[in-house]
Amino acid sequence: MSAIFGLDFGTSNSAISANINGEVQLINVDKNNPIQMSLKSVLYFYEEGTKRESYVGHEAVQKYIENEAEGRYMQSIKSFLTDQNFQHTEIFCKYYTLEKLISLILRTMKERAENQLKREIVDVVLGRPVVFSEDVEKDNLAQKRLTDAAKLAGFKNIYFQLEPIAAAFSYENTLSLGQEKKILVGDFGAGTSDFTVIKVENRSRIKSDRKDDILSTDGVYIGGDIFDSEIMWEKICKYYGKDVKVKSMMSNNLFGLSPMIIGNLRRWHLIPQLRLPSKLRSIKEYKFLSSSQSDKQLFKNLENLINYNYGYLLFQAVEKAKFELSDTDSSCISFNDYNILIEEKISRTEFEGYIRDKVEKIDNCIKSSIKLANLKYEDIDVIFLTGGSSYIPLIRKAFEIKFPKHKIIQSNAFTSVALGLGLYGSNII
Ligand SMILES: Nc1ncnc2c1ncn2[C@@H]1O[C@H](COP(=O)(O)OP(=O)(O)OP(=O)(O)O)[C@@H](O)[C@H]1O
Ligand SMILES: [Mg+2]
Repeated sequence: MSAIFGLDFGTSNSAISANINGEVQLINVDKNNPIQMSLKSVLYFYEEGTKRESYVGHEAVQKYIENEAEGRYMQSIKSFLTDQNFQHTEIFCKYYTLEKLISLILRTMKERAENQLKREIVDVVLGRPVVFSEDVEKDNLAQKRLTDAAKLAGFKNIYFQLEPIAAAFSYENTLSLGQEKKILVGDFGAGTSDFTVIKVENRSRIKSDRKDDILSTDGVYIGGDIFDSEIMWEKICKYYGKDVKVKSMMSNNLFGLSPMIIGNLRRWHLIPQLRLPSKLRSIKEYKFLSSSQSDKQLFKNLENLINYNYGYLLFQAVEKAKFELSDTDSSCISFNDYNILIEEKISRTEFEGYIRDKVEKIDNCIKSSIKLANLKYEDIDVIFLTGGSSYIPLIRKAFEIKFPKHKIIQSNAFTSVALGLGLYGSNII
């Protein structure tokens, strides 16, 4: 029996399907995860005495919270694939390359799926974004690293397919035989938003070479992580000294936290970089130079954030409010722990204001993907939306003003890519 996995390694969520003799099924490899059939792309390392443990997915989140944010918690690991400076990181005196870290997630998914299927599968179709990076060298590096990570995870034959094309396959699968459509796939993930215009047709077998059917592909480096970062900047950074200006010892000039420190503070996965001694020293200096106790307290908050390593929990509070804004007009970012109390109301209108320029870029990309395909809006039969950020009303609006509502299909945002990768596997096995 021939078999192949379809694996969508996402910036925040991953999913896996298995294609066994052409029959494709999604496999639940993280049963306690609130998002069904999906595994959070996170890792957690914890050391107690001589015992060193590593956890993946929902269990990693649980253990991290249980251990009160001690140890090393890692998320958005995919976003480092293009980073030439990321060679390795030290975790409890052991060096881990990026490939090794990613392989821990891939291996967990592979093994859990194999246990359920009661068989070994060493072939895999991995998804990749339309662009990892516009810099060709970095783009190649990212794919090579992902390939090496898959090898380390135990896969032997590794194939790639673009994520939005995989999503298109999952739509194609719902058509009745012989039906042909031109569709625009919008995949709104955590790291990127990708667009593909593709001709789909339900044939008895998926054509292996779809080059002629792909009418255009385009993408922008805008996704949910950036939206979180905007909320962080507008609503939360002020609790950590963003607006404080201190007087320099040498002159009367006023200065605030360096762009580097602020840059780290507003991107969740970069908060651990604030542990660098030079940055800690500079925060201590701001605290010393602050003229009021209340300003000093803000820098103390920043030190606590770094020392207690609770950035992720704060992130969860921000993300929770963002999720709620997809369904309601207002929400509250609540965080009450580690000597800080945050209760920040946020309305959908405010949130839309923070992300409007980003959504404009997305909007331009929708337009250019249609233009690149040499089509007009009315030529498109179906808009197929996937990825968690497609639930954001402002993003949906960008489509609704261009296309009639009945043409817009919301897929299962977290699994349609993995399902399509599995379906594509029929060309290989
Ligand atoms: N209901 C919601 N409203 C708004 N945003 C949401 C919602 N649900 C999930 N998201 C966001 O969607 C993103 C995750 O989506 P998804 O799992 O599709 O991304 P990914 O596949 O991990 O990323 P990528 O494809 O860019 O690698 C996160 O930024 C998350 O905050
Ligand atoms: Mg994705």
